[in-house]
Amino acid sequence: MEQIIINGGKKLKGSVCISGAKNAALAIIPATILAEGVSTIENLPNINDIKHLVIILESLGAKCSFLNETTLKIDATNIKKYRAEGDSVRKIRASYYLLGALLSRFKAAEVEMPGGCDFGGRPTDQHEKGFKLLGATTTMSHGLIKTEALNGLQGSNILLDVVSVGATINVMLAAVLAEGSTTIENCAREPHVVDTANLLNMMGADIKGAGTNVIRINGVKKLKGVNYTIIPDQIEAGTYMIAAAITGGDITVKNIIPQHMDPLTAKLVEMGCEVFEGDDYIRVRGSENLTAANVRTLAYPGFPTDLQPQITALMATTDGIGVITESVWDNRFQYVSELNRLGANITVDGRIAVTKGPSHLTGAKVTAIDLRAGAALVLAALNAEGMTVIDKAVQVGRGYENIEQKLKGLGADITVI
Ligand code: EPZ
Repeated sequence: MEQIIINGGKKLKGSVCISGAKNAALAIIPATILAEGVSTIENLPNINDIKHLVIILESLGAKCSFLNETTLKIDATNIKKYRAEGDSVRKIRASYYLLGALLSRFKAAEVEMPGGCDFGGRPTDQHEKGFKLLGATTTMSHGLIKTEALNGLQGSNILLDVVSVGATINVMLAAVLAEGSTTIENCAREPHVVDTANLLNMMGADIKGAGTNVIRINGVKKLKGVNYTIIPDQIEAGTYMIAAAITGGDITVKNIIPQHMDPLTAKLVEMGCEVFEGDDYIRVRGSENLTAANVRTLAYPGFPTDLQPQITALMATTDGIGVITESVWDNRFQYVSELNRLGANITVDGRIAVTKGPSHLTGAKVTAIDLRAGAALVLAALNAEGMTVIDKAVQVGRGYENIEQKLKGLGADITVI
């Protein structure tokens, strides 16, 4: 997918089925390495980052096969290597989960520096802090992160300086097979942290407290392969909810966990949308005259940073002044210049963006700089009068399964090249 072409101005109507959670899948696939057995993971999103992870696991000696588009069977029995390197490792951020998983199984791991979206630096000091407290020493040379626990891994008390999804999950991966008990304090509470803990417990781990800010783990001797179904994607769901708002449409977002959407639901209602919640769906009705509001991104259960570009695009089209504060990342407003190319009136000062609306958006040629920025451009294009061409659309494919079909199903005039 190189380009997305959208002729905007249509009210999107109908229902869309949400795929499995990307950021749960990117943690759960590496976690299967911890068992010398076979695991089957269901409800995987069919996106590029998953394919990179499969390439990496196979390079380590795992046998992977897709039973269908969303079900992956992983036989991790014969993994012998604990060095993960190559193009795929450098391409995705989630490669760092291989550190925790391989360290847990082999008491050593070597992983090339991960890639992923750049929001002004993606430090891993908290990951290393956790590994160190568990008895591992971590060094970095020639672009390779090496960590090893010569005397094995011992449980420990870890207080994370920063609420970090990656560090919480990576430390969990490293602690489940350690000797003794581990507590992780000030940990992340995202749905995909809970999903990963649930998988590990099904494999035979002993983890309590996932979803709160203290996780307690008692190390066990062995884990076994399991069948597991990934939770629905909170961020994909939120993106389609915002699509209803930004086009003044009426969309039912199905196969979701509505509670995961609470911060966005509350914000859309505050801005003037009608929102109806069912057991596993949310229906959003936009309107012509939404009013701007203020948004501050925070770790879960706050407003997700991964919906910040999307809500900013919506805010530009609403009446009044909107202030969006990005509390998680240093520099996650680089995409705003592309939104302004479509006629938005947004000014950025460090971690704060201010939108003045309503702006009448008009189609233009724009570029997706990362996954969620690309989603924001898609949303703006759906609102804009005329044709918008989004370059580097491969970024959008990294996190949105079948976006062309899903949007066409809602009445969008979209072509993907
Ligand atoms: C995960 O990244 C997600 N990626 C990101 O989603 C998401 O934006 C982020 O969590 C926050 O929710 C995946 O799950 C693959 P963090 P992660 O560690 O784990 C600081 C997307 O679009 N920090 O929770 O890398 C860090 O600088 C992607 O799907 C440290 O200081 O994020 C940031 O300010 C983009 N030291 C804050 O913590 C560390 O060791 C949160 O980062 C680690 C993080």
